[in-house]
Amino acid sequence: MYKIAVMPGDGTGPEVVREGLKVLEAIASLKRFKYETVMYDFGGERYKKTGEVLPDSAVDELRKADVIYLGAIGHPDVAPGILEKGLLLRLRFELEQYINLRPVKLFPGVECPLRNKTTDDIDFVVVRENNEGLYLGTGGFAKKGTADEIAIQTSINTRKGVERCVRYAFECTRKRNKKKMLTLVAKTNVLTFASDLWWRTFNEVAEEYPDIKPDYAHVDATCMWMVKNPEFFDVLVTDNMFGDIITDLGAIIQGGLGIAAGGNINPTGVSMFEPIGGSAPKYTGKNVINPLAAICAVGMLLEEIGETKAANSVEEAVKSVTTNKLKSLAVGKMGYSTTEVGDLVVEALK
Ligand code: IPM
Ligand code: MN
Repeated sequence: MYKIAVMPGDGTGPEVVREGLKVLEAIASLKRFKYETVMYDFGGERYKKTGEVLPDSAVDELRKADVIYLGAIGHPDVAPGILEKGLLLRLRFELEQYINLRPVKLFPGVECPLRNKTTDDIDFVVVRENNEGLYLGTGGFAKKGTADEIAIQTSINTRKGVERCVRYAFECTRKRNKKKMLTLVAKTNVLTFASDLWWRTFNEVAEEYPDIKPDYAHVDATCMWMVKNPEFFDVLVTDNMFGDIITDLGAIIQGGLGIAAGGNINPTGVSMFEPIGGSAPKYTGKNVINPLAAICAVGMLLEEIGETKAANSVEEAVKSVTTNKLKSLAVGKMGYSTTEVGDLVVEALK
């Protein structure tokens, strides 16, 4: 019996999570596993009513879940940073979800903005460090509001944090068993401290994985290649900020935020799965948003808890829907409503 904590969150989050849970229920009965869900209403609305973003007691409760399923965070009436830092980043940090795993995979039938690229060309995984770097929030102002103002935001990179991330990426490359190539994405020519630590750690750990080809690319060049020859990549490992940026690029080449899912993973603790996209306030309540990213997040969640067959079925069902049904992945252009897309995936499950 799995215990799944569900946080639908803001905007269209609840709409897509509803479809994800619909698919979860269907696959659980097909594959005969049991779970219970515990719902949490954290997000912008609750914050506006109570001033509370995430009580400490909730973090302790979440620690006892097997896994967390998250919709979206971000509210137009709440200043940027409050919910993101107070909820999403806080959970990533406190639950030590030090990996952000973001597969970039073009499914059949999905329109790709890159000319002449097929499902064979776009199939790689980004392992984004998820607990350090610029995201730690270290820094400050001096002389704030004056003409001489200084703003400092420090990128924190620890040997321990980098090593566990790099190690996870090597394991992931081995398990994936495709090209068996791991590309370190950094900026060694400019970030001569931070990227140097990544570079040294990467090369040391690489010695333990003779079956994996270690590769390196600067982050700017990586952006270019992701567009020009994405087929080159197998697994990429990078820091938090670079990972954030290149996975939005990854999302768009796989068909957009309607399909891109990710996992905040603590390999020995509680992980959290989510669609990569935001709360899309302007589409809220219209039943037009694409739920496939949230459904793919359920697939990733199932893989993480060990229900591999169920995870594969969800992915196959999504593929069959993108191949045979959807006109487009774009909001309002799918040819179906949010709820209908969820139903189509359920029908396609085997
Ligand atoms: C993401 C998002 C978050 C991030 C924001 C909402 C804090 O962009 O999950 O990629 O920057 O990590
Ligand atoms: Mn992002």
